[in-house]
Amino acid sequence: MKYRDLIKNMTLEEKASLMSGKDFWQTQEIESLEIPSIFLADGPHGIRKQAEEADHLGLNPSLPATCFPTAATVANSWNVELGEKIGHYLGKEAVAQKLNVLLGPGINMKRDPLCGRNFEYFSEDPYLAGKLAAGYITGIQEHGVSACVKHFAANNQEERRMSIDTIVDERTLREIYLTAFEIAITEGKPLTVMSSYNKLNGAYTNENLHLMQEILREQWGYEGVVVTDWGGSNDRVAGLIAGNELEMPTTGGETNAEIVQAVKSGKLDVEVLDQCVDRLLQLIFTTEQAFASEYKPIIDINEHHAAAQQAAEESIVLLKNKGSILPLKPASKVAIIGQFAEQPRYQGAGSSIVNPTKLDNTLQVLEQFGINSIGYEPGFERYGKKSSNKIARACELAKQADVVLLYIGLDEVTEAEGLDRQNMRLPASQITLLDALYEANPNIVAVLSCGAAIEMPWIHQVKGLLHGYLSGQAGAKAILRVLTGEVNPSGKLAETYPLRYADTPSARNFPGKEVSVEYREALFIGYRYYDTANVNVLYPFGYGLSYTSFAYSDLAVDASGATFKITNSGERDGMEIAQLYVGCTSSDIFRVKKELKGFSKIFLRAGESKTVHISFDDKTFRYFNVKTDRWEVENGDYITMIGASSADIRLQGSLHVAGSNAPLPYEASKLQSYYSGKASNVSQTEFEQLLGHPVSTTTWDRTHPLGYNDTIAQCQYAKGWFARFAFHMITFAHWFLQKIGKRSTANLIMMSVYHMPFRGIARMTGGIVNMQMLDGMLMMVNGSFFKGLRHLLKERKKLMQMAKSK
Ligand code: BGC
Repeated sequence: MKYRDLIKNMTLEEKASLMSGKDFWQTQEIESLEIPSIFLADGPHGIRKQAEEADHLGLNPSLPATCFPTAATVANSWNVELGEKIGHYLGKEAVAQKLNVLLGPGINMKRDPLCGRNFEYFSEDPYLAGKLAAGYITGIQEHGVSACVKHFAANNQEERRMSIDTIVDERTLREIYLTAFEIAITEGKPLTVMSSYNKLNGAYTNENLHLMQEILREQWGYEGVVVTDWGGSNDRVAGLIAGNELEMPTTGGETNAEIVQAVKSGKLDVEVLDQCVDRLLQLIFTTEQAFASEYKPIIDINEHHAAAQQAAEESIVLLKNKGSILPLKPASKVAIIGQFAEQPRYQGAGSSIVNPTKLDNTLQVLEQFGINSIGYEPGFERYGKKSSNKIARACELAKQADVVLLYIGLDEVTEAEGLDRQNMRLPASQITLLDALYEANPNIVAVLSCGAAIEMPWIHQVKGLLHGYLSGQAGAKAILRVLTGEVNPSGKLAETYPLRYADTPSARNFPGKEVSVEYREALFIGYRYYDTANVNVLYPFGYGLSYTSFAYSDLAVDASGATFKITNSGERDGMEIAQLYVGCTSSDIFRVKKELKGFSKIFLRAGESKTVHISFDDKTFRYFNVKTDRWEVENGDYITMIGASSADIRLQGSLHVAGSNAPLPYEASKLQSYYSGKASNVSQTEFEQLLGHPVSTTTWDRTHPLGYNDTIAQCQYAKGWFARFAFHMITFAHWFLQKIGKRSTANLIMMSVYHMPFRGIARMTGGIVNMQMLDGMLMMVNGSFFKGLRHLLKERKKLMQMAKSK
């Protein structure tokens, strides 16, 4: 231990006091020992440091900071150096705002397109997500502050995120849900990791010894700090034993007292606590140095804004360009339609919300681009119902134009932290507008702003489609530069766009039942599934157009990797993203058809050729064997594919790889869905066969009194009239708020009340409600209303007296 001497001088109470926050965002200092308090704040695409009122829901404003494109956007750049550059600017701003730990990047897999937080995550592919995240982390930490990779792990939905139990087989867990973390942690070396809210195979992630000890610490050699997600701690001592150093936010000292008690009773070895303290001190002292050496309170706002614009430019994806409608011809008369042109949708909602230093919108910056605009019409209301008047005015304008630029997308209420989307559609008001515009003038170029995949049954009604995703505060100019051809688009999708939601492999098991969500589709997520099961999609993973074209040739494959040539065969300079996929020809172990194992983004002048080499690495041929419980390599022939997308393989080679001679892990006859790749409708029996054990019951136990980990939604089944009354009040408030158009507040009720486990009331209120008071509340909901109320008031009084006497 590095700080053994310092720790020797601490009392047990002092050690415990470091293990949870002193408030919402800061850790506890110990002045006498010169241990400072450090500040942690969101977030992944811009700093969200709240100077005044604190919350983790994106409600109260934070200090201005550059809002970069979100992770879902930057993932389309497939550019690790760009990730590092964004990280560099984030790190600089973190230092300027005296922030020790930046709570990002978020790297959970996009298991299902409806996950409300997909806009904050990179990809459906662990390799791409892991590499980009490692870039961000390196950039952020270059400045001496800490990145915090989150949410570890298997947190792939927002619905019941604080109580859901993710049931996933070990191979899928390792190959899909942990590989991005493994790459980010072993290559990026973040000083902090955030555990997720959910349970993983029966245990809360921060208490899960398999995840936290065996995998994170022992196999990956992680030596940094684990912080809980805000309010995500359950059994504090169990968390600490698993190596979860820091609980956030404060619980007013309540859980620190539990730690003290556990040491005194012998339940917790003081050495375990000391090691946690040691690792936390390491984080505190290293990150504090950032302010000593480099501290500058001011950033160059314009430079950072320009960096955000460049990031957006490289991340925009051109999805359709019929008849080369783009780039816009200088003489074309252009009608700008769609409310998003006036008020951009440029970031997500929830804890990652940034208060931007500047915000460009299309209408304001249009004249800098020489576009021959004949006017603007909003055409729809962002959150409202369709308006015939607005549509009529938009059609009038469209009729006079050569090209209609239509700015549409998802609004920030539909796509937000804490709630999943209900469907993959655009709002009906926008589709009605598009239908009408198509009749008025079919030369439509749609500019999309959404943080996740959507269905596009209307795709035949647009000639051009540019997807800006959530492109940050400087996105408007970036999009215009691509529309006019100043920038040649080079982004490619980091997720698949299925034709319809029902085609997605997780559709039948999302967001799960009351208690758990079963990942029955196993390895078959995203393109891994569509590709293997031959399911048609709208846009495949890795797809994106350019204003030029690229030819691939001369593939050579050897043990070190794949070498090939790319030529820019068109007339403009441009960048191409070449993708390396590998598939195994043996069918002894079930596999997906191909998996991304490398990529390279190359700039080529018109007519230029370059030789590209993509190296194999330790992840290229490995699979996780559940019999030997380790990574193995299967002996056999592997197909090496070089593609312009997952569905557009341009070159193919073959390589024999000697295996590690492990025993076969499966009995094929019992896993037919997995061996056939048609894994979207797996039976319980077959899933249990894959898991190696029966699944536990998926519904709430309605016979037991409600406890700490039951959710407030379960009040509907409680014994006490009060609980059922409270439940109806909550559902009524939700319904009413939606009815009167307050969707955002309605969402907040679902997220922070309805789905909240009772323990969250104590964990999230910073010591205002303690566990004893919660006991009183539980008595009230479980049928002893007056007894519970008396208990609650008595405990409240005690707490106030204790606070006074301090
Ligand atoms: C989110 C985290 C975030 C934390 C602090 C939580 O609700 O899940 O991603 O970092 O709040 O705001």
